[in-house]
Amino acid sequence: MALDRISLTDLDQRPEMTAAALSLLSAGRFGVSHLVSGLPVAMGLNPSAADLRQCAGVLLALDRIDVVGVLAICPYSDTQVTWWGPAVAGGSAASIARLLADEARRAARDGGYASLRALCDLRDRAHRQLLQSLGFAAWKDCLLFERSLTGLAAGDLSGVRIAVRSDHPAVSQILAEGFPDSDHCTPNLVQRENEGYRHYLLSVDGEIVAAAAVQDPGPDAPRRRAWLKLIAVRKTHRNQHVGKRLLAGILATEARHRLPSIGLEVLADNAAAIRLYRASGFSHRWTATVLIAPL
Ligand SMILES: CC(C)(COP(=O)(O)OP(=O)(O)OC[C@H]1O[C@@H](n2cnc3c(N)ncnc32)[C@H](O)[C@@H]1OP(=O)(O)O)[C@@H](O)C(=O)NCCC(=O)NCCS
Repeated sequence: MALDRISLTDLDQRPEMTAAALSLLSAGRFGVSHLVSGLPVAMGLNPSAADLRQCAGVLLALDRIDVVGVLAICPYSDTQVTWWGPAVAGGSAASIARLLADEARRAARDGGYASLRALCDLRDRAHRQLLQSLGFAAWKDCLLFERSLTGLAAGDLSGVRIAVRSDHPAVSQILAEGFPDSDHCTPNLVQRENEGYRHYLLSVDGEIVAAAAVQDPGPDAPRRRAWLKLIAVRKTHRNQHVGKRLLAGILATEARHRLPSIGLEVLADNAAAIRLYRASGFSHRWTATVLIAPL
């Protein structure tokens, strides 16, 4: 394929190419060689048009009217974006990936971001090598866990409830203590709730001691799965089954939201959290390597 025939565009400008972009992003088998979505709530599911609408941008490489490459840019934090792809087809794949990557880097720099991340199915050596050739280095592995919400018996909700505004300062404090690197609580939890998050808390003797953030897929997306983004217990109350009680309350409440399952990702070295999820009925689906790259 002659590289000078390749042009770059954005899916917003060529919406009729959505199906072709999705078909490139759908390649591979989950848990072996699939392209890991940079949208946590969509990880390990068949990519949909609604997923692409949630991306900050979707770059396309065109060979005349054929889509031969796609790189979706997913929001992650104020300083980082996550790449979903690049997915490339046919000959000159590495060169097309580089064209997309160079353009995506330029866009991220212009947007004021500081670095990039990408996730790669642990067993997908070809995609890992492609990302490494584009300047990424492996950071840590994370495990994808999932649990069915169907047929769930009404759980013990004692002490667990959805947070209201007056709970936000305590909930923010617990989440910030549990996740010092996360910007979930900035600027505030009201904004996150407007983005589709539900915040949960557990109180003991009137004191809030644990909190969590669960993402709903949103009204315009298929109702495939809820996503447990954050769960934390005050240091003083850890290892007393507080996390397990909060999670039981979350599962019972989420089951009412017409979502068949709930998923989450957890770093492979977080033994306490992995034990909690296994003890709460979650199963390990597959593993991804988190890679990071400077801009
Ligand atoms: C992960 C976290 C929420 C667990 O909460 P917790 O209240 O301490 O957990 P629980 O007491 O309910 O324990 C649940 C299970 O995990 C086990 N467990 C708890 N802490 C553990 C540890 N440090 N190492 C190994 N197992 C641990 C418990 O023994 C229990 O297993 P069991 O039911 O077989 O007895 C808590 O450690 C925390 O807030 N960590 C910081 C934030 C974080 O990492 N969140 C998860 C990110 S994905």
